[in-house]
Amino acid sequence: MAILEKKSSQHSIELEDKYGAHNYHPLPVVLNKGEGVYVWDVEGKKYYDFLSAYSAVNQGHCHPKIVGAMVNQAQTLTLTSRAFYNDKLGEYEKFATEYFGFDKILPMNTGAEAVETALKLCRKWAYEKKGIPENEAQIIVCENNFHGRTTTIISFSNDPVARKNFGPYTAGFIKIEYDNLSALEQALESNKNIAGFLVEPIQGEAGVYVPSEGFLAKAKALCEKHNVLFIADEVQTGIARTGKLLAVDHENVKPDILILGKALSGGAYPVSGVLANDTIMSVIKPGNHGSTFGGNPVAAVVAIAALEVVRDEKLAENAEELGQLFRSELDKYIKESKIANLVRGKGLLNAIVINDDEESETAWNICVALKENGLLAKPTHGNIIRFAPPLVMNREQLLDCVSIIIKTIKEFEK
Ligand SMILES: Cc1ncc(COP(=O)(O)O)c(C=O)c1O
Repeated sequence: MAILEKKSSQHSIELEDKYGAHNYHPLPVVLNKGEGVYVWDVEGKKYYDFLSAYSAVNQGHCHPKIVGAMVNQAQTLTLTSRAFYNDKLGEYEKFATEYFGFDKILPMNTGAEAVETALKLCRKWAYEKKGIPENEAQIIVCENNFHGRTTTIISFSNDPVARKNFGPYTAGFIKIEYDNLSALEQALESNKNIAGFLVEPIQGEAGVYVPSEGFLAKAKALCEKHNVLFIADEVQTGIARTGKLLAVDHENVKPDILILGKALSGGAYPVSGVLANDTIMSVIKPGNHGSTFGGNPVAAVVAIAALEVVRDEKLAENAEELGQLFRSELDKYIKESKIANLVRGKGLLNAIVINDDEESETAWNICVALKENGLLAKPTHGNIIRFAPPLVMNREQLLDCVSIIIKTIKEFEK
């Protein structure tokens, strides 16, 4: 029996390996069920999910309210395209704009599409409202950014793995150091054709880099001074993950353009969107932009349910409280650890830096050992392990996870 069960995991891995492109390097675990903070593998082993599908499953796996809304709508009407109106999109747009405090939303599906949408919106605004000469607009981005995988987005990445041999690259981006206000100021002052500043409020993929306190607020003020749009990519940090509804809320910053994805659907469905006020969004006219699936009725009801869950279950407050607990408990251990250097993050978006060089396998091996001990996490870059559980976790579960993490890292101290 045990051999047969083991085979089924192996079988799924072999199928992916043989028939799927090798564009990911997954941990060797095959999941087939999820509920709340837990997932199960095909052999029936239960794990804490400490990745939440890269912060998409903030509301927990298969949240009944979200799944219920999705199933109901799927049995009624799934897709009309935007060639026609549907009776759910407007309701969702009203709900989402009121929820986040913007005039308009432009609905898309994936995070990368939403980033592309924001870049197009920013450029069009720059030509039509700011008066930048045609084809001259520049957008400032940050080193070590991660905004997705399209050709334009990887054009301004500095990750060689994401970039190499995908050229020629899209022009029109200026890269500055993250969390460096004087670099931002200099870039804004040295070029009249800056349209926007695209920034992750915390750099998630890069390894959960939290900028200095005040950086976002001061960067926003600099953008205002230069009539440059502050574009917050909150695809990973948004929707309660960092202990506030948005990570920019920690500094009371209102972006000119807000990019959301992932947890906008609680991980149930690909839903993303770009929010802005009328002065900006009004530059978009019929035919300028679109997507067959963007704004479909299933996405609309799923997103409303997902956002209601965040509000009704006070997930931001829970993330804030449990995040503090997580870092303080791990800090106590890290003080004596030879293998873990530090823990950093905000809310329930955290990372541990492992005391080894970036090319080492230690972080990966720790994640494999964590899996054996019933907790799933993944290295972001080299020696950094990201910890981002669903936000529906409770205190007892979090402390259980902390003890699994400490016990596992201890196995590597020897
Ligand atoms: C900050 C940020 N922006 C954009 C994306 C891209 O989202 P997607 O994978 O849905 O295209 C991600 C994905 O991890 C992200 O973290």
